[in-house]
Amino acid sequence: MLASSRATETDRLPAKPAVEIENVSMSFPGRKNTVDALSNVNMTIRRNEFVSIIGRSGCGKSTLLRIISHLIQPTSGNVKVHGLSPSDYQLTKKFGFVFQDASLFAWKTVLENVELPLEILGMGTKSERHERAMELLRLVQLEGFRDHYPAQLSGGMRQRVSIARALSYEPDILLMDEPFGALDDFTRREMHDELIRIWKARRFTAIFVTHSLPEAMYLSDRIAVMAPRPGRVKAMVAVTDPRDPDARKKPDYLRQIEDLEALLHEH
Ligand SMILES: Nc1ncnc2c1ncn2[C@@H]1O[C@H](COP(=O)(O)OP(=O)(O)OP(=O)(O)O)[C@@H](O)[C@H]1O
Ligand SMILES: [Mg+2]
Repeated sequence: MLASSRATETDRLPAKPAVEIENVSMSFPGRKNTVDALSNVNMTIRRNEFVSIIGRSGCGKSTLLRIISHLIQPTSGNVKVHGLSPSDYQLTKKFGFVFQDASLFAWKTVLENVELPLEILGMGTKSERHERAMELLRLVQLEGFRDHYPAQLSGGMRQRVSIARALSYEPDILLMDEPFGALDDFTRREMHDELIRIWKARRFTAIFVTHSLPEAMYLSDRIAVMAPRPGRVKAMVAVTDPRDPDARKKPDYLRQIEDLEALLHEH
């Protein structure tokens, strides 16, 4: 039933892969038992696609993001990013990463936080870095808060700063690990539209981890449903009407969300 979910527009486009994951397994040695965090994961994500990864706690979502972005190496299997190994890809390009808590530097202003990666990477002159950071703050609609410190912002504003920071060096791939998990429902919905606006303006491949099915359904072209012990991908599902605010009222949406709920909850 899920396999026959209607194809999205992106399915028909001959898009090149951004990320190819082939038979990836990851085991962590424990004191008593080895934890099979990932077992034989296969997934191809197209360039400029928006893919969400959903699954219960401990099914390996963060581990998968860390493997893609070369923070850790898989026990076995193969990952390619734009046709290169993650380490070769990183020689010229950087991954954008947004974490659950904004992880900003408390003693730096909003502007300084966004400028920091550019400074670390030695990109541009001081005034170019300033220009770029200001442009990004305009993109996330926070230019008026450039001289504020993170503690003076709301949770949603902090996450917008961290998105601006992750985009500062123009990554092709933005990895987000439950970026809106700590936000209230209302702010979270605002952030969805904000993120979609930015994604449409900048066009990057978005890989988004979440526990929330409505969130995944709203944002994504496709959803990878994962299951734990061992962590694996159970299904890759094309969303019927991604980013359509009226989708929730449609029978197709309700059917799809029911199918996905069933997948998530079966053992
Ligand atoms: N560095 C590590 N050392 C040992 N075990 C680890 C390590 N990182 C992850 N694990 C284990 O691998 C499994 C998957 O963890 P992971 O953090 O990827 O799950 P997750 O799907 O992101 O969960 P959550 O939704 O709670 O964030 C878990 O059982 C976890 O305990
Ligand atoms: Mg996690």
